[in-house]
Amino acid sequence: MCGIVAYSGKKAACPILIEGLKRLEYRGYDSSGVSLLNGSLQTFKKKGKVKDLENILPKEELTATLGIGHTRWATHGEPNDVNAHPHLSGNGRLALVHNGIIENYASIKEALIKRGHTFSSETDTEVLVHYIEELQSEGKLALEEAVRQALLHVEGAYAIVVIDSQEPNKLVGAKKQSPLVVGIAEDSFYFASDATPIISHTNKVVYLKDGEIAVAELGKELVIRQLSNIEQKLDVQELSLDIQQIEKGGYEHYMLKEIDEQPKTIADGMRGRLNGKEGWTRLDGLEEYSNRISSVKRIIIAACGTSWHSGLIGEYLIEEFARIPVEVEYASELRYRNPIIGKDDLVIAISQSGETADTLAAVNLAKEKGALVYGLVNAVGSTIARASHCGSYLHAGPEIGVASTKAFTSQVTLLAIMALNLGMKRGTLSNTTYHRLISALEQIPSQLSKVLEQKEQIKYIAGEIKSATNALYLGRGFNFPVALEGALKLKEISYIHAEGYPAAEMKHGPIALIDIYMPVFVIATKGGSYDKIVSNIQEVKARKGKIIAIITEGDETIKDLADYYIEIPLTEEALTPLLSVVPLQLLSYYIAVMRGCNVDQPRNLAKSVTVE
Ligand code: M6R
Repeated sequence: MCGIVAYSGKKAACPILIEGLKRLEYRGYDSSGVSLLNGSLQTFKKKGKVKDLENILPKEELTATLGIGHTRWATHGEPNDVNAHPHLSGNGRLALVHNGIIENYASIKEALIKRGHTFSSETDTEVLVHYIEELQSEGKLALEEAVRQALLHVEGAYAIVVIDSQEPNKLVGAKKQSPLVVGIAEDSFYFASDATPIISHTNKVVYLKDGEIAVAELGKELVIRQLSNIEQKLDVQELSLDIQQIEKGGYEHYMLKEIDEQPKTIADGMRGRLNGKEGWTRLDGLEEYSNRISSVKRIIIAACGTSWHSGLIGEYLIEEFARIPVEVEYASELRYRNPIIGKDDLVIAISQSGETADTLAAVNLAKEKGALVYGLVNAVGSTIARASHCGSYLHAGPEIGVASTKAFTSQVTLLAIMALNLGMKRGTLSNTTYHRLISALEQIPSQLSKVLEQKEQIKYIAGEIKSATNALYLGRGFNFPVALEGALKLKEISYIHAEGYPAAEMKHGPIALIDIYMPVFVIATKGGSYDKIVSNIQEVKARKGKIIAIITEGDETIKDLADYYIEIPLTEEALTPLLSVVPLQLLSYYIAVMRGCNVDQPRNLAKSVTVE
């Protein structure tokens, strides 16, 4: 968690840092701060959002042309002004921002205290900057050398940027397990947790690798060294990200913008990967390793949160069409339980951000055990994308709202293409079914546009149930993971307690909760289990629960039974999640807005979970 940004150049640093922090606020937003170097260090820190920090900045112009900034998601020490970053060395000479966790900070702190250091915050980060200071003054070291020596003794995860008031043109950054990108422009350097604060200034970037230290000194070339001090060749990449893509474009919230983008993002994910007329599917990642993939005995999907839900749909799709056994694992569980994984397994890691610590650890574990790792990732150049042997980008564009929406539908789209492609190659799917499904998939973007036209009705339903304190989501088959996803969306942004269940499981416990106060969202589209789900609806009604049903267009039977309904166009049963999830996203969105919640930045959450 946490977002870091740094600038050194000819312009005033402060506005650049503040703009960068706003772009990174999705990574954490409990406090923020900047340190500016103008002869000496000027540091401003504030609990709350970046706008709270802006409010305490002096009115007169801050002319410093070098500085660092941070937006925090607390791990060590509560969110307050003191624990906010940047943290300063004891002599006030150094300032440091950090994303990650220094695991052995307690022992380093104890030793430093014995040697006379005093600390003002409860953070692991302050320990690190004091440690660097001590090494620097004892050895009369250049900043980068003191940083390098300190990091040799640090355990844990970090992306850091450090500045030194006695080396006024220099930014030193380093990374291990937390992301850090360096932007290179003609007369300036940038560091940031991702490229979004950088792209409005330059499209030339270097993604630091684990164990690398970058020294950016004005007037000189960027230098990257390993912790072992060996200089690295610069791998400068050109980004094609468009700044328009990450701005709100007239919407009140990123979440609504991202929900509305889905017809386009799904189409973008399909582009060049399937063709209904010609009847083909293609994923470069699958082609690249086709020999190995054709002989896999099992697929393991590792992911967290919403990406785990799309993984569950992936399991249903791949088993149905390609007849390969699939296991879906919470990455956080997989990594800690000595799982049986080997060279005959394909591990699919699904992640929007490509930075989720548990998913990354699962990727590394799977690689160690000899499995082939396929990354399904949205953020281009992210750590999981680079750590995987092969993979496919979602091409959904930046997802800023903490609640994942468009990434989910893009993940399901890619998993459907993968399942169809594998099924065709393995001969487990008839030609007719293969062609029918490809054509149905191609129709999804236009069908989804029709779902999105029903916003007024969805808003009305949201108004009717906004005061609920609990909610139940039920679905069967391909729509069971959609029930889980609907419940997650509601609880994370509106703080209403919600549970998702396979509809048939309701009578094994949750039915006891149903009364007149319990809204029950049922995904009841046409398909194999239609009659069963109609019976489940009857069971809820008999206990006076309020039914909100997602139904197939024109289904008069459920219209009569439900208290409220939202229609979605008819598609192949296996593809219904791509349509049925969207009304649930919108319902959660409107309910959260009506309850006055901060939709894009819900409490206690962060977009990118880079801690374990
Ligand atoms: O970036 P990732 O897809 O790896 O993130 C996984 C989860 O942290 C994420 O899906 C989280 O559950 C979202 N807040 C859900 O909306």
